[in-house]
Amino acid sequence: MGIFSFLTQELAIDLGTANTIIIHNDKVVVDEPSIVAIDQATNKLIAIGEKARQMHGKTHENIKTIRPLRDGVIADFHAAELMIRGMIKMINSKPQLFSPSLRMVVCIPSGSTEVEVRAVRDSSEHAGGRDVYLIYEPMAAAIGIGIDVEAPTGSMVVDIGGGTTEIAVIALGGIVCNKSIRVAGDSFTADIQAYMRHQHNIKIGERTAEDIKINVGSALTDLDDPPPDYIVRGPNLMTAMPIEIPISYQEIAHCLDKSISKVETAILGVLEQTPPELYADIVNTGIYLAGGGALLRGLDKRLSDKISIPFHVAEDPLHAVARGTGIALKNVDRFSFLMR
Ligand SMILES: Nc1ncnc2c1ncn2[C@@H]1O[C@H](COP(=O)(O)OP(=O)(O)OP(=O)(O)O)[C@@H](O)[C@H]1O
Ligand SMILES: [Mg+2]
Repeated sequence: MGIFSFLTQELAIDLGTANTIIIHNDKVVVDEPSIVAIDQATNKLIAIGEKARQMHGKTHENIKTIRPLRDGVIADFHAAELMIRGMIKMINSKPQLFSPSLRMVVCIPSGSTEVEVRAVRDSSEHAGGRDVYLIYEPMAAAIGIGIDVEAPTGSMVVDIGGGTTEIAVIALGGIVCNKSIRVAGDSFTADIQAYMRHQHNIKIGERTAEDIKINVGSALTDLDDPPPDYIVRGPNLMTAMPIEIPISYQEIAHCLDKSISKVETAILGVLEQTPPELYADIVNTGIYLAGGGALLRGLDKRLSDKISIPFHVAEDPLHAVARGTGIALKNVDRFSFLMR
């Protein structure tokens, strides 16, 4: 490594409600759940990422697990800072590698308030960023999908993350219209938890509900390639005795229907605001889905049928925003939409 690459280190960070991804030298170097475990007495960090996730829901009074982001924004500033700092440290054991000038591009939800933007910038700077740029998430998603965001053509991106669904129309290097709703992967998981309680009298935690979503989650009650039923184990709410229940994807499709309808309504709302020339472009090329929520079975088909515009799931949708943030990092001098 030459002296100059030592002087300027560059990181792209997708600080997500569910997952944090860091790209360094075009490679994904960190891909961890956005969660930390903290010692209650000393406020010191015990574990970060996957290690902390394994403790989630299983802690005693001395340990607390915290998800520093809620609904796409930093909810716990101290925990967020510990998490970013810790994840940067995971890249290389020598922390001084990233001084004296660490350039970062970090993405933020398009609906962020000034205070929320400030929180991301401050956490990034406290974690060692000297030269911090911010980029709106749907813009990063579009770049990551491979869309030419500077072209005079309209593109629509729907990023369904853990905390928020972000819908945006992009043209000429800017966001023309957008909407961010707090209905996304976490809401689907909460729907499943509530459904299991009401329908099957079984109490399950967030992690089990997420496993159900990943194994038999569906947006349609009729899938071409249906997954087998998923066996859920837990305590009966009445008797506290263990029970086993097979769960079908059809049940989960019913259970998620209301939340998915909210996503549909939000997409239609943005289409309504879209200027006609851009609308025509979007009908031609279709709408792109990114974020972990895009992996829900049958979602692209359900949205295409409902909205009468084709929906395409981005390649590797969980990494689209991070990929785009990485590309933005290499173009900080050219992309005028990056915020300093
Ligand atoms: N196969 C799958 N089917 C359905 N949902 C999935 C699947 N895989 C992951 N998810 C969900 O995707 C969500 C995480 O997506 P992603 O990493 O894009 O969110 P994020 O960027 O951390 O959140 P945000 O952008 O809202 O801050 C989680 O809710 C997770 O449960
Ligand atoms: Mg995201």
